[in-house]
Amino acid sequence: MTDEFLWWRDGIIYQIYPRSFMDANDDGIGDLKGIISRLDYLEDIGIDAIWLSPIFPSPDVDFGYDVANYKDIDPKFGTMEDFEQLIAEAKHRKIHIILDLVLNHTSDQHPWFIESKKSTDNPYHDWYLWQDPKPNGDPPNNWQSIFGGPAWEYDPDLRQYYYHMFYKEQPDLNWRNPDVRHEMLDVFHFWLDKGVAGFRLDVFNAYFKDPEFRDNPSKFGIRAFDRQEHIYDVSQPEMMPLLKNIREILDQYDQTYVVGETFMADTEQTANYCGDDKLHAAFNFKFAENRWHPKRFLNSLTEWYQSLSGYAWPNNFLSNHDMTRTASRYCFGEDDRRAKVAAAMLLTVKGTPFIYYGEELGMRDIPIRKRSDVKDPVGKTYWPNFKGRDGCRAPMQWNDKEYSGFSETEPWLPVHSNFVERNVKTQTADPESILNFVKTIIRIRKNEPALQRGDFTPIITDPRHLLAFTRGFGTEKILVVLNFSSRELTYQLPDGTWVSLFDNQTTENELLKINPYQVHILKLKD
Ligand code: NOJ
Repeated sequence: MTDEFLWWRDGIIYQIYPRSFMDANDDGIGDLKGIISRLDYLEDIGIDAIWLSPIFPSPDVDFGYDVANYKDIDPKFGTMEDFEQLIAEAKHRKIHIILDLVLNHTSDQHPWFIESKKSTDNPYHDWYLWQDPKPNGDPPNNWQSIFGGPAWEYDPDLRQYYYHMFYKEQPDLNWRNPDVRHEMLDVFHFWLDKGVAGFRLDVFNAYFKDPEFRDNPSKFGIRAFDRQEHIYDVSQPEMMPLLKNIREILDQYDQTYVVGETFMADTEQTANYCGDDKLHAAFNFKFAENRWHPKRFLNSLTEWYQSLSGYAWPNNFLSNHDMTRTASRYCFGEDDRRAKVAAAMLLTVKGTPFIYYGEELGMRDIPIRKRSDVKDPVGKTYWPNFKGRDGCRAPMQWNDKEYSGFSETEPWLPVHSNFVERNVKTQTADPESILNFVKTIIRIRKNEPALQRGDFTPIITDPRHLLAFTRGFGTEKILVVLNFSSRELTYQLPDGTWVSLFDNQTTENELLKINPYQVHILKLKD
């Protein structure tokens, strides 16, 4: 790999949930023109790529993760011209666009599924996973949907069941059908030809299921879905040659990137999907799922690096559209100190950082109080044990005006009540804000190849309170010390003269004082 700057390895990827980022036409839902209008903001923060959650036509049962046409833009987000403008304007700012491809399943409103349901001899019937009932009328096997209930839905007209890992409105495609495979691979070409730089693949390791549809073995668990070992409904070996085909397509275009969302895979399995003839990267959930403890973060990083070593460059994330936001998980009230430490960690450890929109502001999840307020069907199904994913999908907080500058109309989800103080405008003006802190770290990172592509060596001194490590690149060495605790600590600097990259102050052979939740980034002077 090149020693020069490589956007997907050395840069920062920013995830936008388009419904909630910026609403330019004031219908309460974010759109592409809204994103275009905020590209200057993203350029100013210093991000290198945008991952857009799905923007394809969708009936929105799962808010875009149920696609009704893979080669068009949903009118609520704009037009193909808007998308082309987004690509062009982003490119102008050296920002790459990554699309979210949901190829495991379609919407039940996709014309292929509508055809597929018409008769068992329809040419599209075999594009989905239809099976006859058991002799007693039961579903073909014991597979469950992760969104609740059996994974099989009966169609009384066809007298067959179809399979859906997610909602019944999201039927799974039959990837063993060569026509499906051909059509899907063409989707990659279609968008690459439009100038996108890469893709995030939704639950890619679920594409193939056991061809014999065997029952999953049982295990202990609370929900029916968790009471099974998922050995037959995900992670089948056929995925590996398919990834090779996908990568061959990507490699026909310059500097492209594909990152996969692994579904129910551990770190080792996740790493196995990455490599020169597979995915560039996959998401390691273990890092994001850590409790607030430096040793835990370090352990999951070390495991990630070891599993990947030699195969692929790591990536790291702490938040996305499916989980409680970083600041809501780790901070107390509106105190941002832990969110700052988390951001500094994400931006300085080895691996491409993924920032979820609003994470740079320390945005918190909105509270979900009533079942009738819930938009995410998973929240309705599992209420009150799980309130769904609306919390982390609320409108971006741009300013202190009504609806936080996101829209002039009431948005599809409420804005967090903290928006009056917590917003881009206020934080830009406040030198102590988390936004300015994140921008500073990104600026430091941009100036230092060691923080981008350097190696990573942990330094274990006080593992209950400190995460300390060096990043080395050629002769350059950078030391990062993160205080995860509310205590004032000291840290014996290694030999040499160290310059703080925050204020250029020089320190030599000293006992470094570290304030509660303080972040030090120092460079060895040659
Ligand atoms: C994973 C996506 O991240 C999630 O939002 C979605 O509901 C499921 N896949 C189904 O597509």
